[in-house]
Amino acid sequence: MESLDPSSVKPVKLVNIEGIPLFEDTVDQWQTIWNFKAKPNDLLICTYPKAGTTWMQEIVDMIQHGGDPEKCARAPIYERIPFIEMCGPKPFPTGVEEAEAMPSPRTLKTHLPVHLLPPSFWEQKCKIIYVARNAKDNVVSYFHFHRMDKTMQEPGSWDEFLETFISGTVAYGSWFDHVQDWWKAKDLHPILYLFYEDIKENPVQEIQKVAHFLGVELPESVLNQIVEHTKFESMKGNPTANYTTLPNWLMDHTISPFMRKGIVGDWKEHFTVAQSERLDDICALLLRDSGLTFRTQL
Ligand code: A3P
Repeated sequence: MESLDPSSVKPVKLVNIEGIPLFEDTVDQWQTIWNFKAKPNDLLICTYPKAGTTWMQEIVDMIQHGGDPEKCARAPIYERIPFIEMCGPKPFPTGVEEAEAMPSPRTLKTHLPVHLLPPSFWEQKCKIIYVARNAKDNVVSYFHFHRMDKTMQEPGSWDEFLETFISGTVAYGSWFDHVQDWWKAKDLHPILYLFYEDIKENPVQEIQKVAHFLGVELPESVLNQIVEHTKFESMKGNPTANYTTLPNWLMDHTISPFMRKGIVGDWKEHFTVAQSERLDDICALLLRDSGLTFRTQL
């Protein structure tokens, strides 16, 4: 990490690939990423950015390690679970390199939409956990992430960023397409589709769903330990989960902490009534035939 050159860290341009804006470094390595060789016992955690990826990563790691926080403290979350399409900044290894160096069974992370997922994940019938979060809280969280993560483009004002998000010209493209395409994919593949709001409301029940999906039986004491360890306040104070181990010229937590609010409904602090109604209308229109509904408050 010390050998990273702070001056080399700047916002990464977005380049379209099959209609989806991705980071230029990722697009440069696209053939390697697309040809990634998934193994049948790989587990993939997939989300639209800022939907609760890190939370699910920590839950899964705890389940896989018998609820032992010491084992989960072996490395920061971004090293424990490789982010397959991540490339840069140099000299970080790429996500593919990290995954290839990891012994099986591997747990991996992606934000890719269905049509850009490397085909080997489908061929190998890998288990996938997808976490979706309501559009309003998701866009607020993405806005603040753009402010604090120095590799992200400047978000502009809140009003501007909301328009960028709605138009799908942010990294990973349209939230509306992402959540729906993965929702459809779950009918054909072993995908556990979960909602941020449900995990917040009933972590015991949702963590049990994850454990069941992974074929793990959780004794009550272990389950309680996982709930405690993965609640927002615990993760906010946990350096191996909260991204504070990255240098502040990569992520500046004084602008906005990575573990920011961790609630359902923070959008109310950002949206005007008109913006809220507009996004409600767009969601109603674009999600109308999907059978997919989101809660924006608990
Ligand atoms: P906020 O910005 O709304 O606080 P990702 O990991 O996909 O980047 O998502 C980050 C979002 O998940 C942030 O949302 C972060 O605070 C929230 N988050 C992380 N861990 C959480 C936890 N244990 N409980 C609730 N929210 C959590």
